[in-house]
Amino acid sequence: MRLKDKVALVTGAGRGIGREIAFTLAKEGARVAVNDINREMAEKTAEDIGKEGYDAIGIKADITDLDEVQKMVDEIREKFGAVDILVNNAGYWTIKQFKDTTPEDWNKDIGICFIGTMNCCKAVLEDMMARKYGRIINIASDAGRVGEPFLSVYSGAKAAVIGFAKALAKEVARYNITVNNVAAGVTKTPGVEGFVSMIGEDKLVKAYPMRRLADPKDIANAVLFFALDESGYITGQTLSVSGGYTTI
Ligand SMILES: NC(=O)c1ccc[n+]([C@@H]2O[C@H](COP(=O)([O-])OP(=O)(O)OC[C@H]3O[C@@H](n4cnc5c(N)ncnc54)[C@H](O)[C@@H]3O)[C@@H](O)[C@H]2O)c1
Repeated sequence: MRLKDKVALVTGAGRGIGREIAFTLAKEGARVAVNDINREMAEKTAEDIGKEGYDAIGIKADITDLDEVQKMVDEIREKFGAVDILVNNAGYWTIKQFKDTTPEDWNKDIGICFIGTMNCCKAVLEDMMARKYGRIINIASDAGRVGEPFLSVYSGAKAAVIGFAKALAKEVARYNITVNNVAAGVTKTPGVEGFVSMIGEDKLVKAYPMRRLADPKDIANAVLFFALDESGYITGQTLSVSGGYTTI
């Protein structure tokens, strides 16, 4: 139980990578606030964690709305205490040639991936600074490190997350708060089913030296590493979890 007495907030944890992260942190003893824009999915993840004997609550909030995010963080403080570990996981991607994208696409990718991350950081930072403890982990993407065709807006949004985390890490280091990114490669979740079947899994894995796509557990294990007390001297870093796809 390496996260006993810690409170974690995982955004977009109704399904996919976020759900797996929520389970992983809960199994290490953290009390987990499971956020999603979809209330039923947030509550289902929390209920499933509870059935395994761990502590979780589901909270609906749209992370692109700062007021909703602030209310969510206040509710978590009342029920569990101040947030120690924030995992900015909720994300969205538009798959199109850039010339075909619209301002609505730009606002959605940037709003959920980047603005949402900033909103959640802003909402938890005051408590973290006052308590001189915090772990912020963003689920970025290798797309934000190397660029992916047909995911140009998403690549830009995730690159923004990476740059933001580097700067924030330097700002808050003196408060014993770390800020790191986990850059996932293609990971088997409901969100990428369409993309994987469009290209074909056999074809896709050829780009991955490990010759398999990531499992959500691969990403959750990296998040756990950054969440631990023992990782307290590591900040401003981006760790690719993509079977050797990105080696910068
Ligand atoms: N799956 C991949 O291949 C892959 C690769 C690299 C990075 N990532 C990143 O990992 C994270 C999780 O991806 P996933 O594949 O599990 O996605 P997913 O689509 O399966 O799940 C995302 C969850 O976020 C929720 N969500 C969407 N908008 C929200 C909002 N405004 N507020 C709160 N919740 C919201 C959705 O309801 C959903 O439950 C994302 O940040 C994604 O960009 C995924």
